[in-house]
Amino acid sequence: MKALVTGAAGFIGSALCKELVARGWQVTGFDALTYAAHLGSLEPELSTGRMRLIRDSICNAWAVSSALSDLQPDVIFHLAAESHVDRSIDGPETFLDTNIHGTFTLLQASRELARRRPGFRFVHVSTDEVFGELGLTGRFTEASAYAPRSPYAASKAASDHLVRAWRHSFRMPAIITNCCNNFGPRQFPEKLIPLMVLKALQGKPMPVYGEGEQVRDWLHVEDHARALITIAEHGLVGETYLVGAGQERRNIDMVRAIAAIMDDRHPAGAPHARLITHVEDRPGHDFRYAIDASRLRSELGWAPQVDFETGLAATVDWYLDNRDWWQPILDGTYQGERLGLAT
Ligand SMILES: NC(=O)c1ccc[n+]([C@@H]2O[C@H](COP(=O)([O-])OP(=O)(O)OC[C@H]3O[C@@H](n4cnc5c(N)ncnc54)[C@H](O)[C@@H]3O)[C@@H](O)[C@H]2O)c1
Repeated sequence: MKALVTGAAGFIGSALCKELVARGWQVTGFDALTYAAHLGSLEPELSTGRMRLIRDSICNAWAVSSALSDLQPDVIFHLAAESHVDRSIDGPETFLDTNIHGTFTLLQASRELARRRPGFRFVHVSTDEVFGELGLTGRFTEASAYAPRSPYAASKAASDHLVRAWRHSFRMPAIITNCCNNFGPRQFPEKLIPLMVLKALQGKPMPVYGEGEQVRDWLHVEDHARALITIAEHGLVGETYLVGAGQERRNIDMVRAIAAIMDDRHPAGAPHARLITHVEDRPGHDFRYAIDASRLRSELGWAPQVDFETGLAATVDWYLDNRDWWQPILDGTYQGERLGLAT
């Protein structure tokens, strides 16, 4: 099987490429290598000869069309996106460009494949944030209404709508996935878990937005990668699948759990919980997201394999053991500064 993976050098894209290559797929990554990409995440796969990488933007129609006609993939896994909510508050325009216009470009370029290649699938990878926020109870399902509340979520919602429209108007054999928050190794240090680990390691304040009462549903990135492959192989064209593990945690509890793991791994800095500092909340911060993944479990037989506590400890260990991956980022593009205050 041949896959084209957009956003291959990002957090989830690289985990997906690892799983695909391990299963014997031929993989071509297509990535603009923005600040969020890390070529080091793909080094082992690129050295196997079963993966190559095209460096270009999904907004470049010519580059996308050439890659598709050259490769003739069986599956496009579309992950390329601007993905950080805080940055979408500081500068929404690139989110509209990549997430909406880029998805449009990819869909248009895929129409030829959809016509000519039997079994071709377009797997569009989206987020639970398109559904807006929940109160204390309830979970999102495939029937939940769209109600995005951040520029990031709005741009992803728009891309989902484009995919559905291309499905109906042009018979694009597309499947949409909406997943909860992912955690695991190789995530850019602007995101909650790596940010907290690196702040704790440096003995710097661990900044919790507001009271940290917001709740997120956490899925290990490798479980997400396995879900995407299951959906590509067995999912029904035209359908949507929600992906989640039902592992809900308040942000403050997540940060306390990281502090406790750090006490164990790095006793010299203990107690790390003294570093927890409450800072101004994110504007429009959604209170709670939670996923009902029963459709994916019952119809396609997928189940998560990594439980939260084991996966979180392994993630902290990965950052402690892989300074060569993140130190160049802290020395260069991102030093851990606060983003997304809309000032
Ligand atoms: N991280 C999560 O918790 C999560 C949860 C649900 C869904 N998603 C979705 O999964 C996808 C991947 O998320 P991630 O966390 O790996 O993001 P990421 O920010 O780590 O990686 C995004 C990748 O896309 C690339 N990219 C950005 N703009 C591009 C462009 N114009 N052309 C080509 N490549 C471009 C970047 O270089 C980077 O390698 C996104 O679509 C995101 O919306 C993420």
